[in-house]
Amino acid sequence: MVKVVHQLRELRQLLGALGPTSFVPTMGNLHEGHLDLVERAATFSQPTVVSIFVNPLQFAPHEDFNAYPRTRDADLAKLEAKNVDIAFVPLVSEIYPEAQSCFIQPADSLGSILEGAARPGFFTGVATVVLKLFNMVRPARAIFGAKDLQQVRVVEAMCRQLALDIEIVVNPTSRAADGLALSSRNGYLNPAERAEAPRLFRVLREMARAVGEGDTRFLQLEHRASAELIKHGWAVDYISVRRLIDLEPPSLIDRESLAILGAAKLGNTRLIDNVEVDRR
Ligand code: PAJ
Repeated sequence: MVKVVHQLRELRQLLGALGPTSFVPTMGNLHEGHLDLVERAATFSQPTVVSIFVNPLQFAPHEDFNAYPRTRDADLAKLEAKNVDIAFVPLVSEIYPEAQSCFIQPADSLGSILEGAARPGFFTGVATVVLKLFNMVRPARAIFGAKDLQQVRVVEAMCRQLALDIEIVVNPTSRAADGLALSSRNGYLNPAERAEAPRLFRVLREMARAVGEGDTRFLQLEHRASAELIKHGWAVDYISVRRLIDLEPPSLIDRESLAILGAAKLGNTRLIDNVEVDRR
């Protein structure tokens, strides 16, 4: 039976008896992408802890914090079916008993590019809550999805630079049959938008193929990809070729591992995705 825990005090008591754990932080509304992380966690043969917490600190005032889908009972049934040991489902007041005045702020070079440029303060909200959750759960490892590649890089940098003894495991992006990356926000798409949505992945994959075959006209490729999306009704935030390791702009000289990252809005729904470049 999954043990559902709301309070930090109870969480700490239970954890004391469990030993080292594998941890999957989420904001709930669980889909197969989340459950793939939970399955990955189980491969480490230690108890698994999943948190469900819609973190107000990572939503700007105009964003969808209140509207963010909350499907607690369905989520808990899914975690039960995956044999999760503890579901940590705190209230906002448990995570933020006082107004937060200490923050983890990633440097602008990582936290204010791409997603951070489109969503100022977002990665401060993410890094701060992830550190708090890490301090509450104290896991041996935590599993994150490659779908949110910049989030992974922010969390990895935080762990390295603050000497956290937590292994960060990255799981590949889970996709629908037509390629669309699974996301809680896909539920906002109407049928016509849902049919159009996989174009983001197709465009990124096509760019990754071109770069993989040696095309280094990155700006031109980015513009062409954006134009293709705009033509089909998207509003593009960014389409960008970056170094896989730190998301800095690529050098034209060194043969580095690269990724293509993209974010664009279809109607009112903002989707993000990324594809690694296979350089031959
Ligand atoms: P959330 O969007 O719920 O995602 C929780 C975890 O699931 C993240 O690591 C995310 O990358 C992963 N994930 C979501 N969709 C995925 C997909 N299609 N394939 C693979 N992994 C996927 O990310 C957050 O919540 C929050 O920012 C959080 C880290 C919990 C901090 O509040």
